[in-house]
Amino acid sequence: MPRDAENSDLTTVVVLRVDPTAPDPAAIARAAACLREGGLVAFPTETVYGLGVHALDVDAVGRLFTVKGRPSHDPLIVHVASFEQIAPLVAWQNAPADRADAQTRAAELARRFWPGPLTLVLPRAAGVPLEVTAGLDTVAVRIPSHPVARALLATAEVPVAAPSANLFSRPSPTQAAHVLQDLEGRIDIVLDGGPTTVGVESTVLDLTASRPMVLRPGAVTLEMLRELLPDVELRGDTGQRSEADTGPLPSPGLLTTHYAPRVPMTLYEGAHATARMIDDARAAIGRGQHVGVLVPREDGPAFELLPVQRALLGAEADPAALARRLYAALRELDVSGVDLILAKGVGGPGGLGLALRDRLRRAAGGHIVET
Ligand code: TXA
Ligand code: MG
Repeated sequence: MPRDAENSDLTTVVVLRVDPTAPDPAAIARAAACLREGGLVAFPTETVYGLGVHALDVDAVGRLFTVKGRPSHDPLIVHVASFEQIAPLVAWQNAPADRADAQTRAAELARRFWPGPLTLVLPRAAGVPLEVTAGLDTVAVRIPSHPVARALLATAEVPVAAPSANLFSRPSPTQAAHVLQDLEGRIDIVLDGGPTTVGVESTVLDLTASRPMVLRPGAVTLEMLRELLPDVELRGDTGQRSEADTGPLPSPGLLTTHYAPRVPMTLYEGAHATARMIDDARAAIGRGQHVGVLVPREDGPAFELLPVQRALLGAEADPAALARRLYAALRELDVSGVDLILAKGVGGPGGLGLALRDRLRRAAGGHIVET
């Protein structure tokens, strides 16, 4: 059911509801035409909703940065429908001498993980605007697996630059409603394909570094990558960069406030996290504050008798369920009127747990209590 924004000063937002497994070709055709003409289209991928523009249309790319409030030094991921469409975006011959195998490695990774939640950083071809890559000589590319994204990209027949469809530094959207919370009235079309399945952004893997390097952990885990790339490593940097630093971002999410709720959040890690959260919640309530808690399902009862706003994730032993709910839960707490959020550190050193821990730490902006 199409819906038009009332304020004529703003761009119209049309919400097109589509079946996530078999999207209506007419809705896809309309969104694809909008992209080709330089419009801004939000669409579901298996990870989070993206805000797409024609990647080779510099004006559209400029509008995208403005609408998101994204600094121009934060590069975008280019999404395509097939491996063949990557050829014009990448200059394999420009791979560093010690990375001459980048093309072979990319092809192997593509066979194994595409379409899917993996982004590859590759040498940029001259045809990719520097506005897209924030001046870098590399380009990030991804073939998403969500049927709506696939249909849209195949129909548009142009490469689509798409960051997550949130305002800069806000949690990524995993539902169309989240996109509208942040961007209503500022974009042309939202394809509403229901909630996304993975819930955290794609794994970003740099194949131009001296060793293959995971810049952002995601659902294609380090362990999965290691089967093809025994020398893959995880970027150790955990977000020490300040917002005032304006050179191109070499790696995603390096701003400590990335993915953050508006309400201040503290993350509790370690064996005594729940007990410490209860103490701190009581103290804050005693000071007259409204407290939100973000915990796995099992911890729900521990907070039942306290006057706190609870947002429950999935079971602690099920990282996929935790990831699927993470950003929605953060947004629920954010709009619930609480003064602060206490979050339990879930996830861990391996698998998808790594991505969870990374996103929670960033959402907490470095406010971490070791228990
Ligand atoms: O799952 C995803 O990746 C989602 C969906 C929409 O595909 N997209 C997404 O985009 O998360 P965004 O813009 O929110 O995050 C992309 C990250 C950026 O933080 C950026 O730093 C990194 O990828 N990136 C993009 N191009 C890069 C490059 N050439 N070198 C290193 N990092 C790059
Ligand atoms: Mg983002």
